[in-house]
Amino acid sequence: MLHKNLSVNSAGHLEFAGVDTTEIAKEYGTPAYLVDENLVLENFSTYQKAMKEYMGEGSMPLFASKALSYTGIYRLISELNGCIDIVSPGELYTAVNAGFDMSRAFFHGSNKTDADIAFGLKENVGYFVVDNVFELEEISKQASALGKTQKILLRVTPGIDPHTHAKINTGKVDSKFGAPIETGIAEKLFCKVLETPNVQLEGFHSHIGSQIFETEPFSDAARIMLEFIAMLHEKYQFETNYLNLGGGFGVRYTEDDPVIDYAERIKKLSGEIREHCEDFGIKQPNILMEPGRSIVAAAGLTIYEIGSTKEIEGFKNYASIDGGMTDNPRYALYQSPYTCVLANRMNDECDFVCTIAGRCCESGDLIQENVAIPKPTRGDILAVLVTGAYNYSMASNYNRVPRPPIIAIRDGKPRVAVRRETYADLCALDA
Ligand code: LLP
Repeated sequence: MLHKNLSVNSAGHLEFAGVDTTEIAKEYGTPAYLVDENLVLENFSTYQKAMKEYMGEGSMPLFASKALSYTGIYRLISELNGCIDIVSPGELYTAVNAGFDMSRAFFHGSNKTDADIAFGLKENVGYFVVDNVFELEEISKQASALGKTQKILLRVTPGIDPHTHAKINTGKVDSKFGAPIETGIAEKLFCKVLETPNVQLEGFHSHIGSQIFETEPFSDAARIMLEFIAMLHEKYQFETNYLNLGGGFGVRYTEDDPVIDYAERIKKLSGEIREHCEDFGIKQPNILMEPGRSIVAAAGLTIYEIGSTKEIEGFKNYASIDGGMTDNPRYALYQSPYTCVLANRMNDECDFVCTIAGRCCESGDLIQENVAIPKPTRGDILAVLVTGAYNYSMASNYNRVPRPPIIAIRDGKPRVAVRRETYADLCALDA
């Protein structure tokens, strides 16, 4: 099937991470997110090993926890002695709650408030990824009051269009993120850092976009960044310790997406980076990447129960599920492709083409259109594959729908990693 943690057992049921998904539905209810922790660990260590081997000892991935943030995920990254990218005080809090060593955290965000900065400094976050001059001045002010020097990276925009979906494309000159190289703002911000006390500049960050399969956009971005780094070296004798290239490679959501070998891609990219450094005559900085999607997407899956089915003759068919855009808004937002299967009838003929509809009072609440599945009956289990990234982390309570639990599976054993929200939880904040 799509990924190696998926198979069909002798009962014709979908197995995920060695567990029968219909059994999970019986035991824990639906909808539910399942997370294959073994695959999370494997994916992250693939990046760790390949980056170290091909890009040098100090090169490493940071897990972009915006893709999937809950206490248990930070514990997994801790097991591998890994680093994380956090983008909000909520992610920071969750990592602290997991007992994560915050010196291994890189704190992002294009508009950190004074309180966010105070929180990061209090928790001894290793690196702030500074987006703008306002934030730089505030970090310096607060760090000096605490008598400490904060390590930072500067976020700059290389001006690259990686040809991915416009809403997940962030490296273009007119982006809301970082300081553009092309307009000279990045150099100005760099000069400002040099005269700012209580901050220590360790390097530069760029992120061009998400769901990118080829090395070329990363290599192009790296080239622009390295040219910038070479210019700073020549003009200001500045030594760059880290070049952070941002988010990781793309993920296979459907059979139409390519199968990619992350270690092989990292090896290829490392060769390209080495050549750029030779061209500019500079020592290669340590390389950082921030994969989120490619660490957790295929390690996740969502199970739902089918309720009503509608056949609107001459038009289209619908199969409705007990979840939808509240647990997975990605089709509504980006028309993202997904693979949907009937988990309890994997060997039946897929002769019913339909739209998978959610339960919200909103016609755009769809999970996928033109899906071929066996004609469902009420109570069948629908599995949507590869939902580990940007599903739970983007879930909402629209229509007062409680969020599903996360059932984590480690070595074939399921357990509740995040419990199901209750109706009482929904009212818990109401005065
Ligand atoms: N680093 C930075 C600075 C980022 O902005 C992102 C993603 C990443 C790393 C992780 O990229 P990844 O390896 O996951 O591709 N909600 C959208 C995705 C938004 C991505 C935002 N930034 C979606 O559901 O597709």
